[in-house]
Amino acid sequence: MSIPRLPTASVPDTAMFIGAVLLPTLAKGPIIRRPRVVGFAERFRLDDRAIRVVRRLSDKHPEGPLLLRLPVRHQAVILAPGHVDTVLDMSPEPFSPASDEKRAALAHFQPGNVLISKGPVRNIRRALQQQVLDTDHPIHQLAGAFLPVVRQEMDELLATAAKRGELAWEDFLPAWYRVVRRVVFGDSARNDEELTDMITQLRKSGNWAFLHPKQKKLRARFLTRINDELGRAEEGSLASVLAARAPQHEDAAPAEQVPQWLFAFDPAGMATFRALSVLATHPEARERARQELRDDDSGGSFLPYLRSCVLESLRLWPTTPLILRQTTRPVEWEDGLMPAGCGVLIFAPYFHRDERNISKAHQFAPERWLEDESGDSGGWPLIPFSDGPVVCPGKQLVLLLTSAALARLIGETDFHLRSHHRLDPSGRLPGTLDNYSLRFALEPAPGG
Ligand code: HEM
Repeated sequence: MSIPRLPTASVPDTAMFIGAVLLPTLAKGPIIRRPRVVGFAERFRLDDRAIRVVRRLSDKHPEGPLLLRLPVRHQAVILAPGHVDTVLDMSPEPFSPASDEKRAALAHFQPGNVLISKGPVRNIRRALQQQVLDTDHPIHQLAGAFLPVVRQEMDELLATAAKRGELAWEDFLPAWYRVVRRVVFGDSARNDEELTDMITQLRKSGNWAFLHPKQKKLRARFLTRINDELGRAEEGSLASVLAARAPQHEDAAPAEQVPQWLFAFDPAGMATFRALSVLATHPEARERARQELRDDDSGGSFLPYLRSCVLESLRLWPTTPLILRQTTRPVEWEDGLMPAGCGVLIFAPYFHRDERNISKAHQFAPERWLEDESGDSGGWPLIPFSDGPVVCPGKQLVLLLTSAALARLIGETDFHLRSHHRLDPSGRLPGTLDNYSLRFALEPAPGG
């Protein structure tokens, strides 16, 4: 008996999905955000609309996965929570993260990165990434070197902002990237903006995937610079761990693993700044975070509540809204067959904001992450860092550094949101929060 094909969306539903979900995500910039489009998306509530559209599709096709009606290729959308688990658990085989569009975009600056590698070579690169990023440990082996860096840079940021009477993204981002360069390459790279500007340029062409020619010379220069840094392997940096571990892994392409770090610390900065905006407007959460700092006996290396604040910021405003896969062989589902080479897409905001299945879906409720790594959601997918064997290997390192940055910022300083954003604790938080336009006034906290 032949197996039926999966349910397929109508032409109007496919067009609606493309118009409301795919185009705005692409326009915002999949590899590096375009601030103006993010501002536009916030103003016209495009993310709220995208969530409504996916919900309408899931009401029509609760069984899923749903194939879009596209002339060019097979593309499925995952709509059922159980199917999210299936796809993430069965990665990288048969659900490969190295999908065609991701390969086209990332090849601009990291063709040998684990994210777009396949087969045995992927396993080698993944193992190396996990060792260097200390994936399984909440407190990175180099936390003792990293935490003073975060504190120093945040103190400097606070001093500059206090002088100006305001903190804006334009101040935060350079300070955050000084942290990133010191963590990745060591103190001597602190002011090496040229190095991080190179990846910014390469990411801009990555936004256009196969529509943009490769900047081969720039990439070659960038790779040389990374290799130089790995050669120096400054003590107390991720580069030093990578340089020490790489020889154990043949074919690991160590220099090709580094751009992903520089790239992915960008969303970590966004999540921190957004968390700061919510802490500024949610006095109860802020007080709880300060209490955690007063009670802390981990030297700032394990701050579960502030880590939860970052996770909650990423639930509300996921920086990887689309998790993409491509089937390496035909896959059988209850409702039909998914062909080989089929794109598979999980739209995280649809799950993260479903008030029918999670409590306080549109509010800031960091406590949901305290007891349970999955956000205490009764099996409902909350997946800001993805999940399963391909889960972000940098998750714990991100939580370590971002919670430390927030601790320093809010510890003794009160922030008051000055930009137009409405982040009322009793109201519905918006689907898009434009980090680029957030602005704060600041003053010393009473008794701080
Ligand atoms: C807020 C910050 C970050 C978020 C939300 C995030 C989220 C993610 C997500 C959703 C994936 C894709 C997983 C999948 O396809 O299932 C991923 C992959 C990855 N992330 Fe992160 N990430 C962040 C920061 C970082 C940082 C700072 C690093 C390194 C220092 C990092 C290293 C990686 C690597 C190496 C992969 C590829 C994993 C693989 O293909 O096996 N990430 N991340």
